[in-house]
Amino acid sequence: MTAACPSGLPASGSVTVTETADGQVATILISRPDKLNALTLEMLAELESHLDELASGAVRVVVVRTAGSKAFCVGADIEAFSRLSATDMWRRWIAEGHRVFDRLARLPQPTVAVVDGLAVGGGLELALACDLRLATPEATFGLPETGLGTIPGWGGTERLTTLVGPARAKELILTRRRADASTALGWGLVNAVAADIDAETDRWVHELLGSAPIAQQVAKQLVDAAAAGAPSAVLEALGSGFTAYTDDFAAGVQAFRTKSRPEFRGR
Ligand code: COA
Repeated sequence: MTAACPSGLPASGSVTVTETADGQVATILISRPDKLNALTLEMLAELESHLDELASGAVRVVVVRTAGSKAFCVGADIEAFSRLSATDMWRRWIAEGHRVFDRLARLPQPTVAVVDGLAVGGGLELALACDLRLATPEATFGLPETGLGTIPGWGGTERLTTLVGPARAKELILTRRRADASTALGWGLVNAVAADIDAETDRWVHELLGSAPIAQQVAKQLVDAAAAGAPSAVLEALGSGFTAYTDDFAAGVQAFRTKSRPEFRGR
């Protein structure tokens, strides 16, 4: 499905979702390669509607990819937002980007961004809204907004700081320097760098599918809560109590005892 502009004309970018035959893995593809996948509000709206469906569906793992190899995504469409009034920037552009990227970050399923080429501005913020980031050796990361006289506005100052610490976040934001793939790996900004990114992605997805779905989703929420400063003593007790009553917990313990592979059913 391609989003329609308010004018009724088709938007120049598209966001599509494909699922594996068994319905376990969904891949979101953001495609606007002629503009290096720069994001418009129409593309964000399209992404949001897919996220709504994925959040309530049976998919176990969500992969986020973009079209072309030059750029993962160069962020917000500068032409589009430079035409906005200050109030629309405040009321729509920033608020809608926040809402959609928060929706992505709060998907119950684990999410994996596959970064090839440039991930700058909102492109890096998109990758930061995923749980895990895999990169090709050619991937580079940056937040160039201060060079435009603006600031990272779709969660970058918070999510990057949480992930790599304030000094490295300030390095990228204040100097507009780019981190290459090996620097990003050293900082913990990406989880892995691989030339054969498809094989690497398959490996991570396979490992993610091996865990019990409910336990995995509760654990994701707990890690996010911990990153936001919530106390783990209470939350982990509640999470453990909840997962202890799932069939998957019984299946996991039984498989441990019989030295077999558990069959998780997500209940
Ligand atoms: N918004 C809108 N269009 C963008 C864009 C953006 N963020 N980034 C790139 N594009 C467009 C270019 O205008 C160009 O369109 P055209 O072919 O119709 O002229 C096309 O994508 C290719 O980009 P180009 O600049 O020609 O490629 P390059 O390899 O010379 O440079 C970048 C790549 C990423 C270094 C450069 O495009 C850039 O600095 N983009 C802005 C990134 C940015 O500041 N993002 C944060 C926005 S807040």
